[in-house]
Amino acid sequence: MKGEKNAGVKRSRQTSAGLGRPGGSRETYSDFLQLDILLNLQATLHDPPQRDELLFIVIHQVSELWLKLMHHELSEARREIAQDELPQALKHFARVKAIQEQLIAAWKVLNTMTPADYLEFRHVLGTSSGFQSWGYRLVEYILGNKDASYIDVHRRDPKIVARLEAVLAEPSLYDEVLRLLARRGFKLPATVVKRDWRKPFAGHKAAVEAWLTIYRHPRDHWELYDLAEKLMDMEMLFQRWRFDHVSAVERVIGHQPGTGGSSGVAFLKKALDLRFFHDLYEVRNRLIYG
Ligand code: HEM
Repeated sequence: MKGEKNAGVKRSRQTSAGLGRPGGSRETYSDFLQLDILLNLQATLHDPPQRDELLFIVIHQVSELWLKLMHHELSEARREIAQDELPQALKHFARVKAIQEQLIAAWKVLNTMTPADYLEFRHVLGTSSGFQSWGYRLVEYILGNKDASYIDVHRRDPKIVARLEAVLAEPSLYDEVLRLLARRGFKLPATVVKRDWRKPFAGHKAAVEAWLTIYRHPRDHWELYDLAEKLMDMEMLFQRWRFDHVSAVERVIGHQPGTGGSSGVAFLKKALDLRFFHDLYEVRNRLIYG
């Protein structure tokens, strides 16, 4: 045991040599994870906190952390697809899927909060709302929901605007997938593979034709077929998160307006019609009847 402990300390010293933060050290678990900062970020407006105020803060903070990691993993996957490294990209997809499952699992904890519990602290939320979650928008942008109007709500914070604008202007994950199809010999027009990435992409008949070939002959195009199905997994889990969000919201505030000023449930239900990978849905229509 003693030897093991020492080996651990040695390893931590070796690691900290290259990673140390200015004014800090990474000698302990607490230092490494900056727990002094992290565990003091749940300050409630009531002292002691209202019963479920802490729950509400923790669920949101945990979700923001998963969203941060999800965006990072999606960026890595996109880079690998651009470099034709499909197996590596699929490894990142698997991690994204596991993160999405964690995001969905958070609703289970939140759903233990009753309307009465929420009412105790709703007034302290003011006009703050998940609608202002820029971490969520970064994920939506890289997945292809390129709606620039989401940035408006952040106009007072130039750093956030710059971050969102930058990601909006990058190709989405699916844009890189289409460029990959083009490199693999599928005929896609320049308007598809070299377009203004800030604009949403609602699908294209040439891309549907390419996917039809792949779906009709999966064994001949196994990698691309597998990639497409993994994209569908991601899309479905995203939809499930949205659906669970609406259900949780309806359960707690019914059809009352949200703190962000929207109609609440009616507004959130509209997002259930959003799609990232339009072509992959169109393929389903065509495979059955085409
Ligand atoms: C009881 C808990 C919750 C309620 C009552 C609630 C309510 C709402 C409402 C009404 C909206 C629409 C905008 C508005 O008018 O405020 C909204 C948007 C949003 N909320 Fe929540 N929310 C809850 C929990 C969460 C959690 C835990 C997250 C996790 C990050 C979250 C993330 C979001 C996001 C990302 C949006 C924007 C969705 C979009 O534009 O499609 N919400 N929420």
